[in-house]
Amino acid sequence: MSSRRKLPRALPRIGLAAAVLVAGTLTATYVGASGPGLDGFSDKVRGLVADMTLDEKISLVHGDKDPADIGEAGYTPGVPRLGIPALRLADGPAGLRLNEPSLAMPAPVALASSFDDKLADAYGATMGKEGRALGVDALLAPTVNSIRVPYGGRNFETFSEDPLVSSRTAAAETRGIAGQGMIPVVKHFAGNNQENDRETINLNIDERTLQENELQPFQAAVNAGAGAAMCQYSNLNGKPACANSDLLQGILREQMGFKGWVMSDWRMSLSSDAMNKGMDQEMPAGTYFKDELKKAVNDGKVPQAALDGSVARILGQMERFHLLDKPAPRPARDLAAGTRTAQQVAESGAVLLHNKDKALPLDGSQKSIAVIGARARDPKLGGGGSSHVQPKEKPTAPLDAIKSRAGSGTSVTYEVGEDPAGAAIPDSALSPGFKPGSGLEPGKQGAFYDGRLTVPTEGDYVLNVKATGGGGFVQVDGRTSALFGDTITTGYTGLTVHLTAGTHKVVLFGYSDYVEPLRVDLHWITPQAAQASIDKAVAAAKSARTAVVFASDDSSEGLDRPNLSLPGHQDALIKAVAAANPRTVVVLNTASAVKMPWLKDTAAVLDMWYPGQKGAEATAALLFGDVNPSGRLTQTFPADEDHTPVSGDPSAFPGVDGQVQYREGIYSGYRWYQKNSVKPLFPFGHGLTYTSFAYSGLKAARASDGGLDVSLTVRNTGSRPGKETPQVYIGPSPDVKVPQAQLALAGYSKVALKAGESRQVTVHVDPQQLKYWDTGSHSWHTGTGVREIKAGPSSAELPLTAKLTVT
Ligand code: BGC
Repeated sequence: MSSRRKLPRALPRIGLAAAVLVAGTLTATYVGASGPGLDGFSDKVRGLVADMTLDEKISLVHGDKDPADIGEAGYTPGVPRLGIPALRLADGPAGLRLNEPSLAMPAPVALASSFDDKLADAYGATMGKEGRALGVDALLAPTVNSIRVPYGGRNFETFSEDPLVSSRTAAAETRGIAGQGMIPVVKHFAGNNQENDRETINLNIDERTLQENELQPFQAAVNAGAGAAMCQYSNLNGKPACANSDLLQGILREQMGFKGWVMSDWRMSLSSDAMNKGMDQEMPAGTYFKDELKKAVNDGKVPQAALDGSVARILGQMERFHLLDKPAPRPARDLAAGTRTAQQVAESGAVLLHNKDKALPLDGSQKSIAVIGARARDPKLGGGGSSHVQPKEKPTAPLDAIKSRAGSGTSVTYEVGEDPAGAAIPDSALSPGFKPGSGLEPGKQGAFYDGRLTVPTEGDYVLNVKATGGGGFVQVDGRTSALFGDTITTGYTGLTVHLTAGTHKVVLFGYSDYVEPLRVDLHWITPQAAQASIDKAVAAAKSARTAVVFASDDSSEGLDRPNLSLPGHQDALIKAVAAANPRTVVVLNTASAVKMPWLKDTAAVLDMWYPGQKGAEATAALLFGDVNPSGRLTQTFPADEDHTPVSGDPSAFPGVDGQVQYREGIYSGYRWYQKNSVKPLFPFGHGLTYTSFAYSGLKAARASDGGLDVSLTVRNTGSRPGKETPQVYIGPSPDVKVPQAQLALAGYSKVALKAGESRQVTVHVDPQQLKYWDTGSHSWHTGTGVREIKAGPSSAELPLTAKLTVT
């Protein structure tokens, strides 16, 4: 038995009504295997299906308790008498979530921001090997849902707003995972682009938008060898994504050619009829795909052949990954190599957003540095929810990494600026008083505190919670906080709220672990306390040559961000520090876009995302110029909340009356900003470097595969080696009458150039990038005619132009 406490295997549904599925009558869209009589499967698989009893088949299509319990998310016991081994499935996209601490990798959004397929392959291979070594057979990764809104709670866990960046990253990571003999499980099919109401909401996504934006990365992962797909919680165009034959049979299997199996997302309300609609396996338990399924098969409501098809799809992948052979020896862990990859990804994915007067890199003239911010001391490694990983090694604090890199000639001071722990709320302010350690007994969820908070003065208050044994959220006057909990963050997190003097309603909701009670401490930061610590930070910044402020958020699965501001008083802190010291550098540990009301006053902004267990070392290497930043934004950072694709339209996000309308259509991300001439804070593809690059000589020619070969010359015109990401965009087809993007990313590459070096780079544009989805024929068509090709370092800076006729 592991001595470590068990993490919840999935975030429970907090305060959300379970999606009610009316168990349908047999509409007989029965999903066969890959043909009648299990055609397409090997003799071995067909033989096994023929030899299995009904109970044995059913044991493969739902999860169960693992007697060995390694802390994995899902388990099926196998059929020992037939040599079918147990199958262990574990999260997830940012490392292995098991009882045994593992490599905490940088968040997938950091990986995608590297625009580096080789690194994505290495990232997948690292997790594949680590997981195989630790006894896992299938990895619940990658997450490939598109970043549709900057608020998305899981934006850190996925890749991009652009289908090409997502597809290439997904394909490379999938190959990396599969290459280690680990079954990649691509998720969440399809449209899991928001967390609010994810289990009840209906997403209205038109056919073309679904095909062109959301499904492309799934297709890429399927082509790259994903063995399973996880269907998602929400309803899509009126039907549950997990009981939807149009989606699972029509699109995933027939259109995309997927041969693997489909598992549910964790703890869904489904009936056994989901098997008739294309879902093969229920996770993590057998709520519906056990006794109910057995009865449905016996009553003929689920055809025996449907069950056989599901079993064969699971066995087919187990066979493909050699799990049905004499078990291959598990590899040894290679923590040293994995740790190097983790650091490389953190370095390559970091995006230098802003750098006035070459404030970065820090050089030898830094006699004194004031480091400010809670995350400089208590590093932010990853996001919250099922992707949360307990790091194998104690991560270095960025403060220590900066001190050791700066050396003894530099004085490095530290001020917290704002400590999210604040102070316990005195009984005089809260009625009834909150007993530290209050919470819920194991296995419970719901409201566990309901009281009144009285504040003497108007201002921004922070109510933060630290929890063990589960998590939850705080509500003040009906406004909901971010999730708190021990799979979300290591410290305090919660709600920043503007309160008038007087009394306000406070409610705490929570969920507890299966084995441990939920224990909660409720703290606050008053405007007065916040000002006092800002004053200390300002004093430290004044007496140093440079100030480095760490700012962060706590994004998590389960809930979207309520707004795009940094939580707490961090904006006020950065503003005050920047006013006191013009050489103020901001390091962001955030999931996605944030507002930067202080941007113009700061000298530099480096977005490290959630950088994993080597984040501190990577941050110091970038700040001091040992590594030249080369990451690019895979998502647009809006200038403010009134200028996003969903601003002012709650029906577009987060939804009204249980319906979300994807009104932006195919104009997602930068396509929307271009179409509406809205200037973002930072455009898609943006990222600075410590050197400079010049572009020249664009030539575009038809390639033998029907795509394009676009060549251009990139020269490193600065004095340091660096990496550049030339991006090629394509304009609309004049022959096509449907709406098209002004410019869409069609190809990119990443090149390393020494100072002064010049290189001709050929960026291949795959034929798929010249196509659009035709809703008349329900298929891909090439957009013919003279098309504009543009190239350069970001979507907003494309100095090279050419024209080419596409036939
Ligand atoms: C998440 C999945 C995850 C699963 C198992 C669910 O809540 O949506 O991404 O793989 O839990 O932990």
